[in-house]
Amino acid sequence: MPERLFLVEDDRELRTFLVEVLEDAGYEVGAFSEGAAALQEVAGGKVVDLVITDLVMPGIQGQELLRRLRDQRPELNVIIITAFGSIDSAIGLVKAGAYDYLTKPFGTDELLLTVERALEESRLRREIAALSRTATARPLGFVGASRAMHGVFALIQRAAASPYPALITGESGTGKELVARALHDRSGRGPFVAVNCAALPEHLLESELFGHVKGAFTGAAREKAGLFEAAHQGTLFLDEITELPALLQPKLLRALENGEVRRVGSTQPRNLDVRVVAATNREPDDEIQAGRLRQDLFYRLNVISIHVPPLRERVADIPLLAEHFLELAGSGVARSAPVMEGRGSPDSSERPPPAERRLRIAPDAMALLTAYPWPGNVRELRNAIERAATLAAGPEIRAEDLPPRIRDAGQAAALVADASQRQIPLRELERAYILEILRQTGGNKSRAAEILGLDRKTLYRKLEEYGVSELPSV
Ligand SMILES: Nc1ncnc2c1ncn2[C@@H]1O[C@H](COP(=O)(O)OP(=O)(O)OP(=O)(O)O)[C@@H](O)[C@H]1O
Ligand SMILES: [Mg+2]
Repeated sequence: MPERLFLVEDDRELRTFLVEVLEDAGYEVGAFSEGAAALQEVAGGKVVDLVITDLVMPGIQGQELLRRLRDQRPELNVIIITAFGSIDSAIGLVKAGAYDYLTKPFGTDELLLTVERALEESRLRREIAALSRTATARPLGFVGASRAMHGVFALIQRAAASPYPALITGESGTGKELVARALHDRSGRGPFVAVNCAALPEHLLESELFGHVKGAFTGAAREKAGLFEAAHQGTLFLDEITELPALLQPKLLRALENGEVRRVGSTQPRNLDVRVVAATNREPDDEIQAGRLRQDLFYRLNVISIHVPPLRERVADIPLLAEHFLELAGSGVARSAPVMEGRGSPDSSERPPPAERRLRIAPDAMALLTAYPWPGNVRELRNAIERAATLAAGPEIRAEDLPPRIRDAGQAAALVADASQRQIPLRELERAYILEILRQTGGNKSRAAEILGLDRKTLYRKLEEYGVSELPSV
């Protein structure tokens, strides 16, 4: 179904022209010479996806029209058309909630681009609203719409009230700590105490976890309660559980089995009610095989297991997460940097600096974000967005604001897409790719090997195999 636009413009000639341009672009257009009629239609429940209105008109002015539209349909985007002299009020209108403004004279490209962006933004907002209506189980601060994450949310929901230990697995940066906090938040339990098992040497970790009596070891000047006790009636989060020193593992196992802990140097057990949630970014099976994790402890911890999938397996979450982190970075408000010259229509450079408005992610940048494999998962995405939000010069984050590795991966994705289109054999693709990387590194084999994820020897062997004795000239 074509999208429906309302155009309110009192100048008949301009109106006719704009209707033609918009209809040619495939939109359905309702044209009005004054605001009241358009408002009436909207109030009557007419379907409309976007309103484009002149600012200065007889009858209801654009400003008043915007106000009333926002009252009735706050989700409807409005684009304001202004004459050059009234830019100040246009900025005021963007602050009052207009999506954007166009300064006369504007080109048709600029018009269509602005219209498409406004519609895209509404679509995205509708999607997010629909998703958040269905995803009732989504814990606070958690973003995710993929099936995989819905599975995780459902598990959190079911497991939160349980007193049994839980083990959260997943690569680094996937959100395991967030899952642990969500489990706790929904449990109605008391304190949340987090311990990183990799952060302390064995003897310090032992007294941190279990406490110690006075004189238990050199430096134990006073009796001290451990974090287990601090988490009484709450949750103890043991991060990086596979790093728990071997000598402490049986001690933790006993605490889990009997609900008792003993301070270091004491014979008196203390009864505690602690829910233990552990996390690891390693493969528990491998750790057991390697003798680093006791199997009995693993079984004890793994009563409830939650696996958080890597971001590359839930591409659907990437746009939502990106928008989410953009909003968090500087509350999503762009600094009033001037629009860069040479972008957009010729008159865009005459625009004054835009009023504060929300940063957007340009479509080409979003395409790169979704194509990149995110080895550092959500944490890496968060860092990339925060960095890009600082670098962005205009109202949007563009491809060049993203870290080079993400842009390069986009090129690789395009290369793969092209190769698969032509159905070339993998060998040939590999050869072409290796040569391309060598070209980009100016023939530097160490650097190329690093980018390709190969050791130098393997790279040399492949080059030989492919009959590349001399490097491509650069
Ligand atoms: N689904 C999500 N929604 C919103 N923020 C998320 C989500 N997943 C992860 N994050 C954010 O990404 C960052 C990394 O998440 P977190 O620290 O929970 O990862 P982790 O799995 O514990 O990583 P590590 O194994 O390195 O400790 C945090 O800033 C977290 O708030
Ligand atoms: Mg963590």
